[in-house]
Order: sequence, then C-alpha cells, then structure tokens
Amino acid sequence: MISPERLRAYRFFASLTNQQLTDIATIGEEKSFPTGSIIFKEHTTANNLMLLLEGGVELFYSGSGAGFTADAPVCSIVPGGIFGVSSLIKPYQYTSSARATKPVKVVDINGVMLREISERNQALGRVLMNNVAAAVLARLH
Ligand code: SIN
Repeated sequence: MISPERLRAYRFFASLTNQQLTDIATIGEEKSFPTGSIIFKEHTTANNLMLLLEGGVELFYSGSGAGFTADAPVCSIVPGGIFGVSSLIKPYQYTSSARATKPVKVVDINGVMLREISERNQALGRVLMNNVAAAVLARLH
C-alpha cells in the first residue's frame, strides 16, 4: 500500500476522487530496480501498471518476435509517466519490454486487481482508460 496523497501528485491520478485514489493506493507497492534490469518482457502476461517515480525507463522490442529488429527502441519514460498500459487492455500481453536506464523507483499497481476495481466501478474504469489513452498519445510528442 502507498499513500493516496502520493498518487494524487501525478497527472495520471490527479482527477480521481479520494475513494478511487484510496482503492488504487491499496493495491500499489513501491519497488526499486537497478540500472539495466528488465522490468518486464514483451509477449508476457501484463499484470502490472507502473508509475515511474524516479530514474528512467526505456521501452524497446527485444527482437524475440518474427520481423522485429533486436533491441529497437520504442520510447523513453520519464518520472511521472506510466508504463505497462497493456495491463488494462486486452489481451493483457506486454507489447514491448521495459528496461531501467538509471536506478528506478516505481509504484507497481497490480493490474488484475485494478481491472477488478474498474469492473466494479465503471466511472473509474472510464477515467483510467481515458488517462491511459492520453498518456500513450503524449508519448508521440
Ligand atoms: C505495454 O504495456 O504493452 C508496454 C509498455 C507500455 O506501452 O506502457
């Protein structure tokens, strides 16, 4: 569990109600990864939505699929950004891998539980999906 106030400081969560933030904070856990570690791999089950608190993360294609270039970069995530968005989008498989380019701190949100909460509270589900779309579009700028 992390504090709901901590989440509210980030754009992705800023528009949520106190109760919604508390529900999400309950299933969030702070984690650290050293430089170079692989946080998740593409084509694996996407069960974790991450909020980057500190450090840097590169999303990349490792080249494990037919037609992929090995280690092709997708984009960089900076503090305040979210990644692992496939944990909220069917078929819940990561589309790229994530590597720590610096020592990293994240809030790791259990995607399975987040999906359950969103099913029960569809207003929250809509806000989350809207914020996911905005976060992914912002990567294009
Ligand atoms: C994924 O979730 O499929 C990869 C990471 C991201 O795009 O956030």
